[in-house]
Amino acid sequence: VGTLALGGAGTLAYLWNASKLDTVGEVGFDSPLAIPPLAESESDSSGARVFNLEIQAGETQFKSGRATETWGVNGTYLGPTIRARRGEEVAFAIRNTLDEETSIHWHGMHLPAVMDGGPHQAVSPGEEWAPQWTVNQPASTLWYHPHPHGQTGRHVYQGLAGMFIIDDEESEGMNLPSEYGVDDVPMVVQDKKFDGDNQLDDRAAFMSMQGILGDEILVNGTLGPYFEVTTRLVRLRLLNGSNSRLYNFGFADDREFSLIATDGGLLPGPWETDRLQLSPGERAEIVVAFEPGETIDLRSHPADEGYSGPLGRLNGAEDRLDVCRFQAAESLADETEVPSELGTAPDLDGEDVAEERSFKLSGFNSINGDQMDMARIDFGVREGTVEVWEVTNADGYMHNFHVHDVQYQVLTVDGEAPPPQLAGWKDTVQLVPQRKYRLAMRFSDYTDPNLPYMYHCHILMHEDSGMMGQFVVLGEGEEIGQVPATSAGH
Ligand code: C2O
Ligand code: CU
Ligand code: CU
Repeated sequence: VGTLALGGAGTLAYLWNASKLDTVGEVGFDSPLAIPPLAESESDSSGARVFNLEIQAGETQFKSGRATETWGVNGTYLGPTIRARRGEEVAFAIRNTLDEETSIHWHGMHLPAVMDGGPHQAVSPGEEWAPQWTVNQPASTLWYHPHPHGQTGRHVYQGLAGMFIIDDEESEGMNLPSEYGVDDVPMVVQDKKFDGDNQLDDRAAFMSMQGILGDEILVNGTLGPYFEVTTRLVRLRLLNGSNSRLYNFGFADDREFSLIATDGGLLPGPWETDRLQLSPGERAEIVVAFEPGETIDLRSHPADEGYSGPLGRLNGAEDRLDVCRFQAAESLADETEVPSELGTAPDLDGEDVAEERSFKLSGFNSINGDQMDMARIDFGVREGTVEVWEVTNADGYMHNFHVHDVQYQVLTVDGEAPPPQLAGWKDTVQLVPQRKYRLAMRFSDYTDPNLPYMYHCHILMHEDSGMMGQFVVLGEGEEIGQVPATSAGH
């Protein structure tokens, strides 16, 4: 880990050259986009829907030549899409067949800390973990991925990740595109660096202050994907499942599309835009209109603002990348629409604020100067209260900020009302260098004085290096307890 201690002008010059990727090769677009299967489930006697997930090692043929050693869930790379309705009880039997411990965290999910799948719920090799909870939040595109202490980046990079889609009555009552894999398409976007032998190059993790930056793009594990469009409107559920890369999505002809949902669910109304930036861990749902017979590419364009110069390059902010080709049929079904009213706007602005906290992110391994410690609970919040967290990127580097258990409202960015893409519920927000974000969140339902939730930078090398902290949700009269010795270990 010696190269992490980089610094000084010489280093910057080195990094500038090492990561200068302005245009990362055009791809052939000759493979049909893989659609992750929907996870199968069965009801148990109590009525819970039970999913079986097996975490396994395997080999995946991304390119011609040698297959790549990868990890997956119920397969060799990525995992199935889990789909459940609000109000449903879900249960999982998760089996770890790897020869090291890992975990499965439900990113964006409101659930008890003991089910959260963070570093305190590690699953040993050969063991099983059986979390269960009632889904109780609006329709949204969440995801799952491992979260073992200090190893999240490597485990995600090897292929452990999948989508978790929540439906509810409101979303089902809308005439939005919603046929999975047909006009409602999951897109797990990831960058990879393959070595000459087609293997994932782990050493790339330590090439820069921002961790792995790949130069080839996989969507749902497909390199150079195309998708056959059969409907005029197509909804894309975009997940930035990369370790450190920033994407600025947009089409080759700069056409507008409708942003309809962000991390926590549907926006109050659609926002028409031709660009959408997503940092690692963020999701967005967009609806795109296609013309019969056309071929159009989705790309990542150089980022709009705040990222020029060598530091921005470390997250690929200046790269132009091909992501996916869309080929429209000669005649397109046209039965869906984008309603002008979608979800409910966040409503925490103006609520009584029980506590204000501030968080400064800089460097790569600490928040407010503190490095993650499994045994230290950084603070406790009161169940039922609203807090405002002021989060500052005190750096020239990109960071972002994710909080477990809750969806938050972005109140302001540098004192201004947030832009439309930050107007809905969020669980991960990109922190542009030197900007200050005020986030309002309410803690509800689940309390545990001993078992913490995490907050952290979702640039996985930063998270793994210690840019993470822990909080507990306290019931009335409860005091901060102690992380149980078994899970405080490491
Ligand atoms: Cu997506 Cu703490 O994680
Ligand atoms: Cu999370
Ligand atoms: Cu960071």
